[in-house]
Amino acid sequence: MVQFADRVNRVNPSAVREIFKLMADPEIISFGGGSPANESFEPDIIKEITAELLTKQPDLMLQYGTTEGWTPLRDAYIEHIAKPKGLAFDRGNIITTTGSTQGISLSIDAFVNEGDTVLVESPTFLATLMVFAKVNANVVAVDMDEDGMRTDDLAAKLEATGARLIYTIPTFQNPTGRTLSLERRKDVAKLAALHGAVVIEDDPYCDLRYSGEALPPIKSFDDADNVIMLNSFSKIVSPGLRVGTVAASAEIIPKLTVAKQCSDTHTAILPQAICAEYLNRGLLPGHLKSTAPMYKERLDTMLACIEKYLPAEAEYTRPDGGVFIWLTMPDGFDAQELLVTATQKYKVAFVPGAPFHADPADGKNTLRLNFSGATPDKIEEGMQRLSKAFAAQL
Ligand SMILES: Cc1ncc(COP(=O)(O)O)c(C=O)c1O
Repeated sequence: MVQFADRVNRVNPSAVREIFKLMADPEIISFGGGSPANESFEPDIIKEITAELLTKQPDLMLQYGTTEGWTPLRDAYIEHIAKPKGLAFDRGNIITTTGSTQGISLSIDAFVNEGDTVLVESPTFLATLMVFAKVNANVVAVDMDEDGMRTDDLAAKLEATGARLIYTIPTFQNPTGRTLSLERRKDVAKLAALHGAVVIEDDPYCDLRYSGEALPPIKSFDDADNVIMLNSFSKIVSPGLRVGTVAASAEIIPKLTVAKQCSDTHTAILPQAICAEYLNRGLLPGHLKSTAPMYKERLDTMLACIEKYLPAEAEYTRPDGGVFIWLTMPDGFDAQELLVTATQKYKVAFVPGAPFHADPADGKNTLRLNFSGATPDKIEEGMQRLSKAFAAQL
């Protein structure tokens, strides 16, 4: 028998990753992941960019690189992603990461000691909860409503706990699809400054908007320089490339860089260079514009199916973008039990809501549905199957 360290013993396997394994069954229709549509990928463009990079700069592509990241990508991020959001950064404000997952992990490495209290939305991204579990943080949940995290509750909990870190997903939140309102974005920055707390603003879905007006990031109200903003190419170009970015003050970036040196030295150069070239060719705005109607159709189809097929007592969010809808059933309903029937008998998958809660005893009556990964036909069929699973349970 081997003896594991406490830090891995504390972490349970991700409920989403476990559901990914079910995907090996071709009959399953999955609303379980958080994946972009396969139909959104542009393999021909990626192939052409890759061939050009390997032809023109083979040594640079195949050699080790710097921990801070591929310089043309940091510059392209500043120009093509940050600037259109009204943000001005220098290269010293940016490092690239191996997906935003690593940005979360490095930020937690840099700011959370064992036992520290951290504040998160309730519910929140379960992979972040896993990282907090690994470092043995005391996770305190802040209430949400349709406008995202409730900043009155945030203020009260900052006051009561002395927490020094706030983790938020402000736009089309995972798992709820909710978006933090403009006023609350300002409030989060203000409260963090007042309490000397760091904010991790994890915003991988901000560019997947299908209706309504874009909102400025919390980072744009960050007069105190304590917001760490994470963006990712996963949902807008490809998750398999594993490229994300961190934007933070010139004081914070070097510490994250040291933490990254302990983790993976640097993010793979070729995927970073592909993302840089993609941005520099000006391809992103057109891609977002052309994929939005497809995603909107999927979102609208799923909302219509919830209305048509699911129990009338189900409450659900109606997001303007992103990839998730959050469903709440009356107290006493068990979404984990529904998952067993749904996957085994009706071949349809989703993620039960409990693992997205700081206290997994909460949210048993909730579930997350992903609408981006399946075609409208599959959504229609999958939701009919799900309605049968609901009927069997109720
Ligand atoms: C809120 C949130 N943050 C981070 C990530 C991780 O993204 P990446 O693929 O960039 O690691 C996800 C992916 O689902 C997410 O939903």
